[in-house]
Amino acid sequence: MELRGVEELMDLLHACRGARDTPGRCGGRVDLHDHALQTAALLRRSRPADKELQVAGLVHALGQLLRPADPTGHTDLAADLVRPLLGERVSGLVRHHSGGYAHDAETDDLLSLRHAHEAGRVVGIDAGVLEDWRTVLELVAAQHSRLGAVD
Ligand SMILES: [Fe+2]
Repeated sequence: MELRGVEELMDLLHACRGARDTPGRCGGRVDLHDHALQTAALLRRSRPADKELQVAGLVHALGQLLRPADPTGHTDLAADLVRPLLGERVSGLVRHHSGGYAHDAETDDLLSLRHAHEAGRVVGIDAGVLEDWRTVLELVAAQHSRLGAVD
């Protein structure tokens, strides 16, 4: 699977609504769509200047939607999926969000992401809507996308 742009990414994030039956899923009792919005909103509050980190929070759980039966491979899947559109840093944050080795330079960012991912599981909280993130996604994609860069 390959993402061809922000619109396809948004479609995929919309498809996370209602995804709550996966064993060991990221969002706990909260569905993946709400978990993604809550994680991103928490990062927007704690790290307001870091759009890439916020976007990593928004997309970090996509692998669970695409391959729900593979709890170990889903982070790599999501990281590989978003890399061409959102760049190496977002991809790396997604890849390592659930633990394991991190480069020193990544540590603070990963801790922030992991904290938001743990905290973003509150049932019934209003964390906004996906449309709020379109501009930020387009900004990060415009900075990093290799799509269309060859001309
Ligand atoms: Fe998560």
